Amino acid sequence: MQLKKGQIIDLEIDAIAFGGRGIGRFEGRAVFVDGVMPGDKVRASLTRIKEKFMEAELVELVAKSAERIEPRCKHFGTCGGCKFQFMKYEDQLGVKKQHVIDALERIGGLKGVRVKNPIGSESEFYYRNKMEFTFGYDGEMNFALGMHLPGRRYDILDLDICYLQSELSVEILNRVREFCLERGWKPRKFTNNEGFLRSLYIREGKRTGEVMVNFVTSQSEGVDNIPKGFVEELEKLADIFGESVSSFYWTNVISKRGQRKRFEEKLIRGKSCLSEIMKLDNGDELKFDILPQAFFQVNTYAAESLYSQVLKYALVEPCKVAFDLYCGTGTIGLFLAKHLEKVLGIESNEEAVKAAVKNAKANGVDHIEFFTGDTGKLLKDLKESPDVVVIDPPRAGVTAKVIEQIDQFSPKTLVYVSCNPTTLARDLRLLTDLGFQLKEVQPVDMFPQTYHIETVCLLQR
Ligand SMILES: C[S@@+](CC[C@H](N)C(=O)[O-])C[C@H]1O[C@@H](n2cnc3c(N)ncnc32)[C@H](O)[C@@H]1O
Repeated sequence: MQLKKGQIIDLEIDAIAFGGRGIGRFEGRAVFVDGVMPGDKVRASLTRIKEKFMEAELVELVAKSAERIEPRCKHFGTCGGCKFQFMKYEDQLGVKKQHVIDALERIGGLKGVRVKNPIGSESEFYYRNKMEFTFGYDGEMNFALGMHLPGRRYDILDLDICYLQSELSVEILNRVREFCLERGWKPRKFTNNEGFLRSLYIREGKRTGEVMVNFVTSQSEGVDNIPKGFVEELEKLADIFGESVSSFYWTNVISKRGQRKRFEEKLIRGKSCLSEIMKLDNGDELKFDILPQAFFQVNTYAAESLYSQVLKYALVEPCKVAFDLYCGTGTIGLFLAKHLEKVLGIESNEEAVKAAVKNAKANGVDHIEFFTGDTGKLLKDLKESPDVVVIDPPRAGVTAKVIEQIDQFSPKTLVYVSCNPTTLARDLRLLTDLGFQLKEVQPVDMFPQTYHIETVCLLQR
């Protein structure tokens, strides 16, 4: 029978694909459906028909999987932020482990690899140390402060509850909404110069208890749409926050056609940085001073687990020199430096390198050096001979050229940290073809309720 878009089909879901969609089979083809889990029996409407696979939209949950649980959040299913909330946390970890195994086997052709059970996040809710809420309008053009609705470019879901950050964060969110509504302040519109509210960032030091709020507005160059006395108003907002917020910023983003946006930052009250501490399993500890725009891992405790694992693998053999490639703000390198004679880091983002240099100074580490630029261009010119190389690339993984260059340095130990099992599997294949042996694979869950998974791999030669 010829299948058509909009046709209703019945399916039993038997797996979850990387990306979070459920997979069932219909007439021999895989069908991907959002919002379902293994064991669910569903009725779905076909939205895309391809030779090898199809996509469909859930119409009715005919029979629920016995493993389904009631999602905690009332915004579940609309918000799109916590796709796995209908699964017990241990089941989420099982699905994520299977994604890593599947990628290694199917993409990397690496069978029989020892993939350990994922290290779970200490808390499955309230784990984020940073949230960005957007000002905008809901589908009916009402004021909204919350998250972008999935699949809709402009519409914002007005959030009054979210379980990803602390309860204090939600309180701040609701206070700010109230404050803006009382003053008749409007979110910016993309179509004209009306409104000026852009976003609200809330950051928390999970180990220090500090809180940074960054109130972000938008302005087109030459258009004076920020209300008179705005700073005085923000000071009133700071009074409302009181002691609970240690650092309160106003950032105005100024845009001009054809030019890069300019950011004007003003500290309204409190400290200029948010301090956070990281403690590893081996007792090592570092302190970080984080500026409003700076990158920092969003789940502090899970990042500690990740880095503890990286150190365990990196220091598996006695060593003196390490490379930290794609080093971001230098966190891994700084922890490694405590045990080594020399560490060299490469990172393309200039701001991140500046923060890395500051972090090194603040923690009294003077035998680490950072290089700004593309790893593919800089790596070959590094003058040291590393015993261990750590790579933590973005989702796209590393290029074959970088892998060749790593090979030229002949490190005994290579630690690959990845946030994407698909590109990890591709790269591990290339590395094992060069003679590296994949010894162990340890997934670490930094993002409960989502499909994301980090993986730390130990390779030796
Ligand atoms: C997954 S993050 C690594 C974060 C860091 N290791 C940490 O734990 O905080 C990947 C980093 O690679 C950087 N990056 C992306 N492409 C790069 C390239 N071609 N060369 C060097 N760094 C790059 C990004 O700016 C980003 O900071």
